[in-house]
Amino acid sequence: MPVTIKVNGVDHPIDATPDTPLLWVIRDHIQMTGTKFGCGMSLCGSCTVHLDGQPIRSCVTPLSAAAGKSITTIEGVNSPAAKAIQQAWTELEVAQCGYCQSGQIMSATALLEQNTDPTDEEINTAMAGNICRCATYVRIRKAIKQAATQLT
Ligand code: FES
Ligand code: FES
Repeated sequence: MPVTIKVNGVDHPIDATPDTPLLWVIRDHIQMTGTKFGCGMSLCGSCTVHLDGQPIRSCVTPLSAAAGKSITTIEGVNSPAAKAIQQAWTELEVAQCGYCQSGQIMSATALLEQNTDPTDEEINTAMAGNICRCATYVRIRKAIKQAATQLT
Protein backbone atom coordinates (compact mmCIF):
# COMPACT_ATOMS: atom_id res chain seq x y z
CA MET A 1 0.00 0.00 0.00
CA PRO A 2 1.72 3.25 -1.10
CA VAL A 3 2.22 6.03 1.42
CA THR A 4 1.67 9.59 0.20
CA ILE A 5 4.12 12.23 1.33
CA LYS A 6 4.16 15.92 0.48
CA VAL A 7 7.54 17.21 -0.69
CA ASN A 8 7.93 20.86 -1.60
CA GLY A 9 4.16 21.20 -1.82
CA VAL A 10 3.62 18.23 -4.14
CA ASP A 11 2.06 14.91 -3.10
CA HIS A 12 4.06 11.80 -3.99
CA PRO A 13 2.71 8.26 -3.58
CA ILE A 14 5.64 6.14 -2.39
CA ASP A 15 5.71 2.36 -2.65
CA ALA A 16 8.28 1.46 0.01
CA THR A 17 8.35 -0.16 3.43
CA PRO A 18 7.51 2.14 6.36
CA ASP A 19 11.04 1.91 7.74
CA THR A 20 12.68 3.12 4.51
CA PRO A 21 14.83 6.16 5.35
CA LEU A 22 13.27 9.37 4.12
CA LEU A 23 16.60 10.23 2.48
CA TRP A 24 16.30 7.19 0.18
CA VAL A 25 12.75 8.17 -0.67
CA ILE A 26 13.74 11.74 -1.53
CA ARG A 27 16.77 10.77 -3.59
CA ASP A 28 15.81 7.44 -5.17
CA HIS A 29 12.01 7.50 -5.41
CA ILE A 30 11.42 11.22 -6.06
CA GLN A 31 14.77 11.80 -7.79
CA MET A 32 15.62 14.95 -5.84
CA THR A 33 19.36 14.63 -5.32
CA GLY A 34 20.15 17.97 -3.69
CA THR A 35 19.87 16.33 -0.26
CA LYS A 36 23.10 14.43 0.34
CA PHE A 37 24.08 11.17 2.01
CA GLY A 38 27.06 11.55 4.31
CA CYS A 39 27.19 9.22 7.31
CA GLY A 40 23.75 7.62 7.44
CA MET A 41 23.89 7.79 11.24
CA SER A 42 22.68 11.29 12.13
CA LEU A 43 26.25 12.49 12.64
CA CYS A 44 27.02 14.89 9.78
CA GLY A 45 23.90 16.87 8.83
CA SER A 46 24.34 16.59 5.05
CA CYS A 47 20.88 14.97 4.74
CA THR A 48 19.02 17.77 6.57
CA VAL A 49 15.51 18.61 5.35
CA HIS A 50 12.58 20.34 7.05
CA LEU A 51 9.69 18.29 8.42
CA ASP A 52 6.82 20.64 9.24
CA GLY A 53 9.42 23.43 9.40
CA GLN A 54 11.82 21.65 11.74
CA PRO A 55 15.27 20.56 10.58
CA ILE A 56 15.61 16.78 10.73
CA ARG A 57 18.14 14.19 9.60
CA SER A 58 16.43 12.38 6.76
CA CYS A 59 18.91 9.46 6.89
CA VAL A 60 17.47 8.29 10.22
CA THR A 61 13.86 9.41 9.72
CA PRO A 62 11.62 6.58 8.52
CA LEU A 63 9.10 7.11 5.77
CA SER A 64 6.34 6.34 8.28
CA ALA A 65 7.28 9.46 10.31
CA ALA A 66 6.85 11.70 7.27
CA ALA A 67 3.37 10.58 6.23
CA GLY A 68 0.86 13.41 6.49
CA LYS A 69 3.56 16.00 7.14
CA SER A 70 5.11 18.66 4.95
CA ILE A 71 8.69 18.03 3.81
CA THR A 72 10.86 20.77 2.37
CA THR A 73 14.15 20.04 0.62
CA ILE A 74 16.89 22.28 -0.72
CA GLU A 75 15.07 22.25 -4.09
CA GLY A 76 11.95 23.82 -2.60
CA VAL A 77 13.00 26.00 0.30
CA ASN A 78 11.97 29.56 -0.55
CA SER A 79 10.91 31.43 2.59
CA PRO A 80 12.25 34.98 3.16
CA ALA A 81 14.87 33.47 5.48
CA ALA A 82 15.86 30.94 2.83
CA LYS A 83 16.23 33.65 0.20
CA ALA A 84 18.34 35.78 2.54
CA ILE A 85 20.51 32.76 3.38
CA GLN A 86 21.00 31.81 -0.26
CA GLN A 87 21.89 35.40 -1.19
CA ALA A 88 24.44 35.66 1.62
CA TRP A 89 25.87 32.23 0.73
CA THR A 90 26.40 33.42 -2.84
CA GLU A 91 27.80 36.84 -1.98
CA LEU A 92 30.27 35.42 0.55
CA GLU A 93 31.12 32.39 -1.61
CA VAL A 94 30.56 30.09 1.37
CA ALA A 95 30.74 26.76 -0.45
CA GLN A 96 34.02 25.00 -1.16
CA CYS A 97 33.46 21.45 -2.47
CA GLY A 98 29.76 22.01 -1.76
CA TYR A 99 28.88 18.53 -0.55
CA CYS A 100 27.68 19.57 2.91
CA GLN A 101 26.13 22.83 1.82
CA SER A 102 22.52 21.88 1.18
CA GLY A 103 22.37 20.55 4.74
CA GLN A 104 24.09 23.65 6.06
CA ILE A 105 21.60 25.89 4.25
CA MET A 106 18.61 23.90 5.53
CA SER A 107 19.81 24.16 9.14
CA ALA A 108 20.68 27.86 8.80
CA THR A 109 17.32 28.60 7.19
CA ALA A 110 15.44 26.81 9.97
CA LEU A 111 17.36 28.87 12.51
CA LEU A 112 16.50 32.21 10.89
CA GLU A 113 12.88 31.20 10.36
CA GLN A 114 12.59 30.88 14.13
CA ASN A 115 15.07 33.54 15.25
CA THR A 116 15.94 36.49 13.01
CA ASP A 117 18.70 37.79 15.29
CA PRO A 118 20.63 34.80 16.61
CA THR A 119 23.57 35.17 18.96
CA ASP A 120 26.86 33.37 18.30
CA GLU A 121 25.85 30.76 20.86
CA GLU A 122 22.48 30.22 19.19
CA ILE A 123 24.21 29.83 15.82
CA ASN A 124 26.65 27.34 17.35
CA THR A 125 23.79 25.31 18.80
CA ALA A 126 21.72 25.33 15.60
CA MET A 127 24.66 24.44 13.35
CA ALA A 128 26.53 22.04 15.66
CA GLY A 129 25.27 18.94 13.89
CA ASN A 130 26.35 20.05 10.43
CA ILE A 131 29.90 18.97 9.62
CA CYS A 132 31.96 20.55 6.85
CA ARG A 133 35.11 18.70 5.85
CA CYS A 134 36.28 21.80 3.97
CA ALA A 135 35.97 23.80 7.20
CA THR A 136 33.81 26.60 5.82
CA TYR A 137 32.54 27.34 9.33
CA VAL A 138 33.79 30.93 9.49
CA ARG A 139 32.04 31.85 6.23
CA ILE A 140 28.89 30.01 7.32
CA ARG A 141 28.69 32.05 10.51
CA LYS A 142 29.34 35.28 8.62
CA ALA A 143 26.68 34.43 6.04
CA ILE A 144 24.08 33.65 8.72
CA LYS A 145 24.78 37.01 10.34
CA GLN A 146 24.61 38.82 6.99
CA ALA A 147 21.33 37.07 6.12
CA ALA A 148 19.90 38.03 9.50
CA THR A 149 20.40 41.73 8.71
CA GLN A 150 17.98 41.29 5.78
CA LEU A 151 15.27 39.97 8.10
CA THR A 152 15.25 42.45 10.96
S1 FES B 1 23.77 11.44 6.27
FE1 FES B 1 22.27 11.99 7.72
S2 FES B 1 23.35 12.95 9.32
FE2 FES B 1 24.91 12.22 7.96
S1 FES C 1 32.05 22.63 1.53
FE1 FES C 1 33.11 20.73 1.33
S2 FES C 1 32.33 19.54 2.97
FE2 FES C 1 31.51 21.49 3.33
